[in-house]
Amino acid sequence: MMTERFARVRSTGSALPPGVIPNTYFEAIVDTSDEWIRDRTGIQSRRFVAGGETTASLGAEAAARALHAAGIDAQSIDFLIVATCTPDRIMPSSASYLERRLGMSCPAFDLNAACAGFVYALQAGASQIVSGAADRVLVVGSDVMSRILNLNDRKTSILFGDGAGAVVLEAGEDPGIFDSRLGLDPVGTELITVPAGGSETPATAQTAQTADTKLRMDDGQAVFRAAVVRMAASCGELLEKAGMASSDVDLVIAHQANARILASVGRRLGIAPERVLVDIADVGNTSAASIPIALDRAWRRGKLRPGHLVLTTAFGAGLAWGANLLRWTAPPPSGESDRWTG
Ligand code: ACO
Repeated sequence: MMTERFARVRSTGSALPPGVIPNTYFEAIVDTSDEWIRDRTGIQSRRFVAGGETTASLGAEAAARALHAAGIDAQSIDFLIVATCTPDRIMPSSASYLERRLGMSCPAFDLNAACAGFVYALQAGASQIVSGAADRVLVVGSDVMSRILNLNDRKTSILFGDGAGAVVLEAGEDPGIFDSRLGLDPVGTELITVPAGGSETPATAQTAQTADTKLRMDDGQAVFRAAVVRMAASCGELLEKAGMASSDVDLVIAHQANARILASVGRRLGIAPERVLVDIADVGNTSAASIPIALDRAWRRGKLRPGHLVLTTAFGAGLAWGANLLRWTAPPPSGESDRWTG
């Protein structure tokens, strides 16, 4: 009899650049305050890269930690997906630079669904395993948002940070990842955008001067509302399809964009606040990296244990959104170096 094939999480890793940027940093640049940022977002500080740090270098660091925790070699990975909207270069992919850093050479691509990138990449990585195309997949979310921030725009500059997270997926006979739900509504294309630097409007001295090569989000409230509705709906649909109830969920690990968005999603789903992870205070919104960073920190801190039912959900530019429903299968990190020390 043929057994079913599922993708299961074997281990995770994360990496943050050392440069800590407190809220007070922005007080000197724009009309804002530490108090406003804490109250409206839950963010106290974030990390920004310096010097040679890039999406691929942070991603490679996170991946190396995930591989170390699993006790496996980079060469044993047979598919790599890097979710990012801030690639090192337009080409080749950041996946290619990450492979060079880790001495890998398997099929790999970058995936851009902005802040929803990781839920899309987890679905794509799990599909590689379920289809039998791969046995071991590395899914990385890495973004260096500081490079596309307009520091003179208080509506966006205070929200984002840099970082990377990684998940090793392996084939197994039990779930694992039960299912995913993905969506995109192009009505929201202009809500969050970097207008120049692509094929429509290549970067020029003029676009740099008008900050058109930087992230723009003029209507934060519209994004807020859409985020709550779409994340809660995709989670609800997943649970219904799986025949599960919100009371079955041990932990919701949603895209860490704003602590108030997380609270609203929990309320809509009828899930108690202690089961909706809030891990934004010292990282900010790290875009595609936010869920794998939160997963990794929860796992290494002992908050995520084998058998837990986990919902991950995100939204981002596009507007793209999605959710994954999974049984946590990574055994507790064993070595001292694999526990959380940050
Ligand atoms: N400091 C002080 N005041 C500010 C700041 C700031 N940094 N930013 C905005 N304000 C002001 C506004 O100008 C406004 O002033 P006004 O009343 O005089 O007009 C007032 O604060 C309230 O502004 P709102 O936009 O209503 O504030 P809100 O409570 O909605 O918070 C925020 C704004 C934090 C942006 C919120 O809407 C939000 O989190 N939205 C979701 C954004 C998001 O997550 N985007 C990322 C998507 S991910 C991706 O794909 C890249």
